[in-house]
Order: sequence, then structure tokens, then C-alpha cells
Amino acid sequence: MGTAASVFSTLVHAVGGFPDDGKRRPEAVAVRPGSVSLQDVTVGYARTPVFEKLDLSIEPGEFVYLVGPSGVGKTTLLKVLFGMVRPQSGKIFVDGVAVHGMHRWQTAKIRRRVGCVFQNYELLQHLTAYQNVLLPLQLGHPRVNDPGGYAVDALELVGLKHKLNELPENLSGGEQQRVAVARAIAHQPRILLADEPTGNVDSDTSARILELFAELNDVGSTVIMATHDEFVLSRYSARAYWLDPKKQDQEPAHAQGVAS
Ligand SMILES: Nc1ncnc2c1ncn2[C@@H]1O[C@H](COP(=O)(O)OP(=O)(O)OP(=O)(O)O)[C@@H](O)[C@H]1O
Ligand SMILES: [Mg+2]
Repeated sequence: MGTAASVFSTLVHAVGGFPDDGKRRPEAVAVRPGSVSLQDVTVGYARTPVFEKLDLSIEPGEFVYLVGPSGVGKTTLLKVLFGMVRPQSGKIFVDGVAVHGMHRWQTAKIRRRVGCVFQNYELLQHLTAYQNVLLPLQLGHPRVNDPGGYAVDALELVGLKHKLNELPENLSGGEQQRVAVARAIAHQPRILLADEPTGNVDSDTSARILELFAELNDVGSTVIMATHDEFVLSRYSARAYWLDPKKQDQEPAHAQGVAS
């Protein structure tokens, strides 16, 4: 596997740096690039809210874990940030974009800035591993000169260079998860959302994924990661946000760094 930091810095260059912030709507101007802010947010799928009046503020370049028991709303919160689930009330700013007022068709704006590793991977089944990484890169960043090269680099970083031409159905669960990680990091997003990205891999691969996220974080990306994984929580110390009705406050921040 290659060195992530050099690939990431080359990628930032290739996609022309982070997206231009000059044309934001006035409502979003005060919010800093790379930051995430939820203000008084209530979300639910039917009448019963998953969470109510949630306030959460994440600084540009922070690494934050979303932690809490199964069913508490970690995936829902990440989907809200990615524009896939609309809140019932409240305001949400992601990288300065007011997500709460967006329609589904407008969410491409979010996807260009935010990478997302979904809990169920959401790979396109008729495309190869390589094409699954390449397609969003081509759609989201049409000015990149050699998107194929970046797709291969990202797959190499997750140890899948030898599986470029495999369809998802021919990959193991952990390999599919790694394709999803490669897809999310390929354009070095300003914000990375990851939903249990180590849920289906062995401890070496888990450590590798975490290392990649840490390197992405080192070059300036904000990382928000839902996890149950004690190994992950102990290996890379970062702020943990507990999504638990009985424990709805933030743990103190710790010094960051990948444990050896
Ligand atoms: N599409 C949906 N329609 C209706 N209810 C849903 C939907 N998706 C999730 N829920 C409900 O919302 C609540 C939060 O689910 P969510 O998937 O966000 O939890 P989670 O914290 O990610 O859990 P896990 O750790 O098991 O992944 C659960 O009670 C779930 O049943
Ligand atoms: Mg979940």
C-alpha cells in the first residue's frame, strides 16, 4: 500500500483545492469551511423522533466519533449531514452549506465536498471496484486530469489494487467496505463521514483504515465517524460525542494521535 499523505496532497492539488466558497447564500456565510453545525435539530422517520433539539458543533479539521447504542441514531445523524434525511426542524450547516433547506436534487452540492462511507457500503453492483471509485470522482470533479489514476491510488491505499476489475458480488464484505472507503477518500473531501467503516474487517485492516482517516485529518479534513469498535476508540484518541438520551453530552477532548 502507498503513502496516503503524499497521495492526498497531490489530490488536493488535482481537484483544484477545496471548493470555492465565494458564492454562498448569506445565511451560510458565517459558517467556516470544514465545520459542521447542528442547531436545535429534531429528526424522525414518523411521529417518534430519533433525536430532539440536538445541538452539535464540530470545528474544521476536528476528528469526532459518534458513539452510542444500536438504534440511537448514529446512521440517521450522518444521513442528515449528507442530505439524505431531512430534519423536522432545526438548522444544519455542513461546510458552510445550509443543508436543512435543501431538496434531494440539490444534495450534489454536498457530495462534492463531503465523502461518505455508508454502513451498508452502497456500491453500484453492476460496476467494478475501480468504476465504483472512478464514477463519483468524474461526476463530482470533472476538471481532474487523471481521475483513473486517483481511483487506482485510492484503491491501492486500502490494499485492493489487485481487485480493481472485480464486481462487488465477487468481493468479501470487508473488501466491499474498503472499496467504499476508497470511494470516500479518493477526492480528499473536506469533510469525511464514516458509518462503522471498520465493522467488517480484521484488526490489521481496521488499523489501516483508521490510519488513512488520521492522515486525511492531518492534511486538514474534518472526520466524523460512527463506531462501536472498542479497538478503534482505544487506538486513535479523539473527541467522542455520545448519542445517548441518558448521556447527551460531549466527552472531554483528548490529545490526538495514532497509538503505536
Ligand atoms: N428508514 C427508516 N424508516 C423508519 N425508521 C428508521 C429508518 N431508519 C432508521 N430508523 C429508526 O431510527 C432509529 C435510529 O436508527 P439508526 O440506523 O440511525 O441507528 P444507529 O445508531 O445507526 O444503529 P446501529 O448502531 O445499529 O447502526 C432506529 O430506531 C431505527 O429503527
Ligand atoms: Mg447505524
